[in-house]
Amino acid sequence: MANLIITIDGPAASGKSTIARMLAERLDASFLDTGAMYRAVTLAAMQARIDMSNERELLDVLNQKKFQFAAKDSKMMASIDGIDVTDGIRTPEVTASAKYIASAPKVREKLVEMQRQFAADEEKIVTEGRDQGTVAFPNACLKFYLTATPAERARRRAIEEGQTTRDQIEQIQREIEERDASDQSRSVGPMKPADDAIVVDTTDLSVEEVVEKILEYAEGRIYRLPKMLWPRFARWLCKVFCRTFFRLHPQGRENIPDYGPLVLICNHQSFLDPVFCGIFVKRPLYYLARDTLFRGLFGKLLVSIQTIPVKRGEADLPAMRTVIGKLKQGNGVCLFPEGTRTSDGKITAFKPGFGLLCRRGNAAVVPVLIDGAFETWPRHKKLFSIGGSIFIQYGKCIPASEVKKMDDRQLAEFLTDTLRKMQNDCRLKQGKEPYSYG
Ligand code: C5P
Repeated sequence: MANLIITIDGPAASGKSTIARMLAERLDASFLDTGAMYRAVTLAAMQARIDMSNERELLDVLNQKKFQFAAKDSKMMASIDGIDVTDGIRTPEVTASAKYIASAPKVREKLVEMQRQFAADEEKIVTEGRDQGTVAFPNACLKFYLTATPAERARRRAIEEGQTTRDQIEQIQREIEERDASDQSRSVGPMKPADDAIVVDTTDLSVEEVVEKILEYAEGRIYRLPKMLWPRFARWLCKVFCRTFFRLHPQGRENIPDYGPLVLICNHQSFLDPVFCGIFVKRPLYYLARDTLFRGLFGKLLVSIQTIPVKRGEADLPAMRTVIGKLKQGNGVCLFPEGTRTSDGKITAFKPGFGLLCRRGNAAVVPVLIDGAFETWPRHKKLFSIGGSIFIQYGKCIPASEVKKMDDRQLAEFLTDTLRKMQNDCRLKQGKEPYSYG
């Protein structure tokens, strides 16, 4: 799946396609106009002269014909069985009949599957339609819903089609309103903003103004690495340090999404765990540390490498708000929910408070196992020993939508169990005795 997915939904003639294309260009991302898919299936069904209200027959057309879509020269190219239909799918007849395809549940299911497949092959994608943020990509990094009054949308469409008499504009408006009603009222994938979508009313805005507005939102969510030079350099220094003194075994780095709100949940074996956890993560991370450490030069250093002070032993609401804010902007945060370092190498049950941060921050969660750090630097020792093997394993990413299905306790228990299992698997592979968790 693409690491960066931006969805743009909205009604007919709200400017989705133009805006999505321009945005994709600015972000160097791929572009998908899902309306073209509905239109192509409509055209194929019309050519096959089938009963448009018969879902079985529509599905046969979808399964038997070869549909291909590609973004080329800022246009969505479409072909059916190798024949180019890029222009053919834009006729008024196709527009009028697309509603049959759009309201057939099994056809929608298949088209959504094709859309996800399309996204899977891209690194970054801007995708537009009616259900992109709600159904096709519920975990998208950024979701927009564009609106404009029917009169304004009719005016824009009329200029596009060169039909600018009053009667023509009124006719276009009637058609647009009919399409809105049909798109909003169907039972599957109805047109509506996703709960977490940013709604932009484009009525009084130019295309450029809308793109700038969207880019402004995106700026916060898509971190800009060049601005983060010092943290990157610090990470490199830490890597050199760790490689000098330890034997590092990272695994599962591909499980870390490159973009979007992310919480890394890590077990806690030694003082060096934040370093072990962070050095293999190429995106910048925020950390938490107790506020008493933020003194003098060391405090300044902590701030400079994106560490947030937190009061121990109490619910530090301002710190929690800061963390949620950072997540909402699309950042990654590294948390150690045991609260303190292990005294025997085992993972103690996670404290459930972090669940709220994950849910409010709309974050995906990646469990991170650290093993070997306890043997290298146990709690009671003043200094670490040199040459120890440190295993750092990034587990399977849990999407934000799954995280939200669990309450604080369920999430804490699930992650405690997951990391304990990862730990014992990792120990067995090293020929070490697994820990007993009764
Ligand atoms: O966006 P466009 O006007 O090209 O879409 C044609 C039709 O396809 C829409 O009127 C709508 O009914 C349907 N559609 C849909 N879901 C999407 C994209 C388009 O139902 N994601």
